[in-house]
Amino acid sequence: MEVAIIPATLADCNDLARMEEELFACDRISSRQFRYLIGKTGNVVVKALAGDRLAGAMVLLTRRSSRKLRLYSIAVFPWARKLGVGKQLLAFAEQTAQRLGCRAIVLEVGVANREARCLYATSGFIEDGTKSGYYQDGSDAVHLVKQISPSHGEP
Ligand SMILES: CC(C)(COP(=O)(O)OP(=O)(O)OC[C@H]1O[C@@H](n2cnc3c(N)ncnc32)[C@H](O)[C@@H]1OP(=O)(O)O)[C@@H](O)C(=O)NCCC(=O)NCCS
Repeated sequence: MEVAIIPATLADCNDLARMEEELFACDRISSRQFRYLIGKTGNVVVKALAGDRLAGAMVLLTRRSSRKLRLYSIAVFPWARKLGVGKQLLAFAEQTAQRLGCRAIVLEVGVANREARCLYATSGFIEDGTKSGYYQDGSDAVHLVKQISPSHGEP
């Protein structure tokens, strides 16, 4: 399913927070946090639209001192899953990393999150360690990385 991936705005914060509440058991991003994330320079918060219906969203974070792009959150509503939306969001993350001159995308995923681990594996991410007790509920995370080649003409 083709989706339009467009920047989220402050007007989307409540919908995005509701999505987090529906899809994540813990470590959810609140509407207030979305407001902060969208307003902060260097962050990229996008929504995936199927027509005018919200299908998914993603939050990417950068730091001035780092050439890593952190994938902080990615989610697709159940009705839109297994149709390639997650892959399109990851492709967008890769384009963003190249555009910003980042050399890698990094993220954490729950050890028991089979769907997401499969998505990352098929998209070329490498699991390179675990973080014990990483989530609010005490569960562990796997750390993943994908190296990004510089875009043409970049040093
Ligand atoms: C993980 C998630 C974003 C995947 O989104 P999606 O739109 O369904 O993903 P895609 O349709 O692009 O699937 C891409 C690949 O992921 C894997 N995948 C996705 N869903 C899967 C499932 N239920 N079982 C096994 N593999 C799955 C497959 O390898 C698939 O490739 P394929 O279709 O060629 O086999 C979605 O399941 C989700 O929102 N989960 C809840 C939130 C979450 O856990 N986010 C990740 C936090 S780190």
